[in-house]
Amino acid sequence: MADETTVAPGVARMREALKDVPHEPGAPKPDPILVADKVVRRFGGLTAVSVDHVEIPRGGITALIGPNGAGKTTFFNLLTGFDKPDEGDWTFNGKPLAGVPAHKVANQGMVRTFQLTKALSRLKVIDNMRLGGTGQRGEKFWQSLIPALWRGQEKEITERADDLLARFKLDAKREDFAGSLSGGQRKLLEMARALMVQPDMVMLDEPMAGVNPALTQSLLGHVKDLREDGMTVLFVEHDMDMVRDISDWVIVMAQGKVIAEGTPDTVMADPRVIDAYLGAHHDGTEHDPDVVAALEAEGETADE
Ligand SMILES: Nc1ncnc2c1ncn2[C@@H]1O[C@H](COP(=O)(O)OP(=O)(O)O)[C@@H](O)[C@H]1O
Ligand SMILES: [Mg+2]
Repeated sequence: MADETTVAPGVARMREALKDVPHEPGAPKPDPILVADKVVRRFGGLTAVSVDHVEIPRGGITALIGPNGAGKTTFFNLLTGFDKPDEGDWTFNGKPLAGVPAHKVANQGMVRTFQLTKALSRLKVIDNMRLGGTGQRGEKFWQSLIPALWRGQEKEITERADDLLARFKLDAKREDFAGSLSGGQRKLLEMARALMVQPDMVMLDEPMAGVNPALTQSLLGHVKDLREDGMTVLFVEHDMDMVRDISDWVIVMAQGKVIAEGTPDTVMADPRVIDAYLGAHHDGTEHDPDVVAALEAEGETADE
């Protein structure tokens, strides 16, 4: 499980509370920040997501794992308002969020990271950050009428951007084009940019993809820092070492459904989870052999 070093009192309480949560799909949590019900997304004849019920524990780091094509990214897109479900409801901080567009979802405190696109690569690092902080007040109309207010916010945004750049050790890159950053630095920038809206919950889709080992520890540290600061983290990741290292809770998806939930150790030793990864392979979809190997190594102890 996650590190046993000293943690914030809120983190300790969250971990204690998770000990009573049954290890089964849809398990209720004592204080969920996000609750989703009957969320369905179809693409033509394919049901990409069909999540009956899921709850995300507040203040914890939850990993969403599952074979390629399981529906993880689609589920992320639905929850954050970047895609619309065919059916389903969910609440965030107790407020209904289904049908709410992405920028309003971000205003409510739930953000996802985005890959640095080509267009953003041509912007300076600091401008990427400022862009991440715009529009969060929903006062565009008044801002255009009252330039002083706008300037005030602009200053505040720039200050917050510089604080975050320093925290993520990107301050030396402030004036560089984002496209000139290394893979790992891009990931840091993506995370820093998401934090510009001061969210309650951060969603990370494969934060370690393309990151060299030297930066892995620093990224892991930053994700743990988010939790220390009271944020909730939901992330998709193939790297099982990372999942084990930082997750308080793991949710497993396969073929659009939640098939298992629990602490990292129990989930990774669950034969249903290993079968799901292997099953995806037999379906002809790709799987990551490293993931299967990691899960099988885990399962051997459980299978006797
Ligand atoms: N825009 C789309 N149009 C059609 N099919 C899609 C689209 N997005 C995802 N899919 C399909 O939905 C399934 C789930 O995809 P995805 O959510 O990307 O899975 P994961 O992130 O778990 O690998 C896959 O079969 C994928 O091909
Ligand atoms: Mg994906």
